[in-house]
Order: sequence, then C-alpha cells, then structure tokens
Amino acid sequence: MATEQPSIKYDIKDINLAAEGKQRIEWADREMPVLRLIRERFEQEKPLAGVRLVACAHITTETANLARTLQAGGAEALLIASNPLSTQDDVAASLVADWGIPVMAIKGESIETYVSHVRAALDTNPNMIIDDGSDVVATMLKEKQDLVQNLIGTTEETTTGIVRLKAMQKAGVLNFPSIAVNDAQTKHFFDNRYGTGQSTLDGVIRATNILLAGKTVVVVGYGWCGKGVAMRARGMGANVVVTEIDPIKAIEAVMDGMRVLPMKDAAKIGDFFITVTGNRHVIDKEHFEAMKDGAIVCNSGHFDLELNLDALREMSEPAVKRRPFVEEYISKNGGKSVIVLGEGRLINLAAAEGHPASVMDMSFANQALSAEYLVKNKGSLENGVHVLPAEVDQEIAGLKLRAMGINIDELTPEMLEYMSSWETGT
Ligand code: ADE
Repeated sequence: MATEQPSIKYDIKDINLAAEGKQRIEWADREMPVLRLIRERFEQEKPLAGVRLVACAHITTETANLARTLQAGGAEALLIASNPLSTQDDVAASLVADWGIPVMAIKGESIETYVSHVRAALDTNPNMIIDDGSDVVATMLKEKQDLVQNLIGTTEETTTGIVRLKAMQKAGVLNFPSIAVNDAQTKHFFDNRYGTGQSTLDGVIRATNILLAGKTVVVVGYGWCGKGVAMRARGMGANVVVTEIDPIKAIEAVMDGMRVLPMKDAAKIGDFFITVTGNRHVIDKEHFEAMKDGAIVCNSGHFDLELNLDALREMSEPAVKRRPFVEEYISKNGGKSVIVLGEGRLINLAAAEGHPASVMDMSFANQALSAEYLVKNKGSLENGVHVLPAEVDQEIAGLKLRAMGINIDELTPEMLEYMSSWETGT
C-alpha cells in the first residue's frame, strides 16, 4: 500500500533504512564524476523544469544519483522498480527521506505489486518516461494510450527494451520519440561489457561462495554482456565455453580464445551456466536433463525467461533453499540436482549490487542528457527510436577520461588533411 508522508506518496520497505542508504548513495557518487558535472550544470540551468517524469529502473545507489540529477534539473521524478528483486531498500528509503523523491519499490515485491506500481506511475500522467525493459511504455500502449498526447518522449536503458521498442515501431504503435540509450557507445561498450562482466560474477560468488578457478563456466550468448562475463570468468581461472546462435559472434568468441559449443553439448560439461541472451528458454528442459549433478544455473539477461524454470519445476521435487538466492531442484527420478540462483532473475542485481558506479556514471550521463535532449527538441523529433548525436557520446567519453586524469592526443592539421583526402596512396 502506498503511504502518504511526509508530503509525497511512496511504497517502500522501511523509511528507517534511510541513513544507511544515504551513506551508500554518497559513496557511489564519488565514482560518478560525469553525472555530478551534469548535475551541477542542471542545478544552474534547470533544463527539465516542469517535467513530470517516471523513471522505471533498478533502484540502486547509482540510480539514486541519476534521480538527484533529474531533480536538480527541475524534473518532478517518481521512481519505480524495473525488476521485483533488484531494489535496494535502504536507497529507496533515503530517496524519500533525504531528497523527497517518491519511490515505489520493495525488494522481493510480488508481480502484482510490481504491476500496480507501473500503473500508479502512469496515473501521474508523465510527460517523460525513463524505462529499463520497456514495461512502462508497453503498459501505457496497452492500457492508457491517451497518455501519449502529453508525452515529450521516452528513453530506454537496455538492449531488451530497445528490441521491444523496435517491435512497437514495426507494429506502427510507437507514436512518440524514444531515445535508445543503450545504443550509445559510452553505454554498451562499458556498462554491458565491464559492468555486467564484473557484477554478474560478483552475484554468482556472493550467492554461492564457490571457487571459479578450474570450473567450466558456460556463457550463453556472446553479445556485449556475454563478452564481459566470459572475459571476467576466464580471468578468474574458469574454463569458459560459449554458446551462440549468431555465426559472427561465435567466430568472435573462438578468436577470443573461448571454446564454442552447441547448448546440447555444453549442457553436459558445465559446472556453471550464465545466460545473457535476452531470449526465451535458451536453457530448456532437455538441457536441464543433460546437466551434471549439482550444475549451477543463473541468468544475467533482463527478464527471467531465459531459463525454462517451469520445465525444471515439473521435473523436480519442490525446490529446497540452500542459501539466500540459492535453490536446489532435485529431480523426481533419480536424485540428480540443478541449482538455480536468484530465481532466474538478473543475478547481478538480485544477489549483488548491480554494475559498479563507474560504468553507471556514463550510462546515466546518457540518460540525463537524453532527457535534456528530448526537452530541447520537443515537437521536432520524429516518432520512433532515436540515438543521441555522436557528439554527446564523445563529450561523455571526454569528460570521463578527464575525470580519470587521462590525456589523449588530438589530430594534427596534417592528419586531418590526410583523413579528408583520397589522393594520397602508395
Ligand atoms: N543495471 C545494472 N546495474 C545497475 C545499477 N547499478 N544501477 C542501475 N541499473 C543497473
């Protein structure tokens, strides 16, 4: 139930957790210099003045710093969870208590509560939506199409959400502009690769406390997230096997030194399985059947549909909880078990804290600048999926490098001239 206190509506676990949340939000902020610079400018310029904004995101310390930035820019922001298991309850409490930012998110909330928060957020009649997975936008298009008339635009954080937006565009229902934040280079090169790489293994290790060295880790999908997970698993001494459906990505994996196998063969040899495909049932009944006793399975893709858990439940006795975020499924016929982490939800946010702040700094700089871009270009952007101009990407990268104290070279006039001519050859 939403509470109305002090002067805002919120639905969080416990407001008394605020002090710890504030400390952690400020700790993360130290690693977010680019977002901080944007926040300082937003405080002066108020580019989001009067914008009613709904942000559907993982409620983490990093998201809190994005929310502070949007607030500094003049937006009236309401935050809801983009996943029932990823909310950090102390962060939600601090946002309400220390910044007066309404939040509706509770770690472990039911699907019904999750959906009720999406609907309550839409009831505020937002003129901007920051989405992570496209649940708010999809719900609006299914249930409340009249809200589109007040919409300046939306932004989307993740690959999965952009796939959904493109499906909406193809179906002719995307009748507003939407910025595909994930498509910025300063987002997916770093957040998806280094962020998912580190935080996924962090989640697996926190959940299980099992040594990865010498284990066979099967990484399902070799997109930017899969590359990061595979690279970091190998760095910890695992034998990494990659499965793919895209021949080009498969060659990439081979040339990165990974072993590439079809899932039916990988299923027999893996100690750990980590899905990062964005697709449905990439580990299915026959794969669970083929796994070794005690194989550990988890997902780091956006939605909890990559593992066919219904099939596993049907094959197994009721799950036995072994540790937080660790459930063992013992098969009905023969005692073999499969261990599932984090209920098949994003393991990096369920059992760990999501991507570290340093990469979210660039992701959320893109979010803040996308919100500003939508306002600046209100009425002139075509309906459909957009990417931020390349100069914005370059600017974010430049600011990040400067914050890291790293200098790089510039093109000399001679180089520039060479680059713009076609006449010079052998
Ligand atoms: N997605 C992955 N990691 C995240 C984080 N730390 N905060 C918000 N969204 C995330």
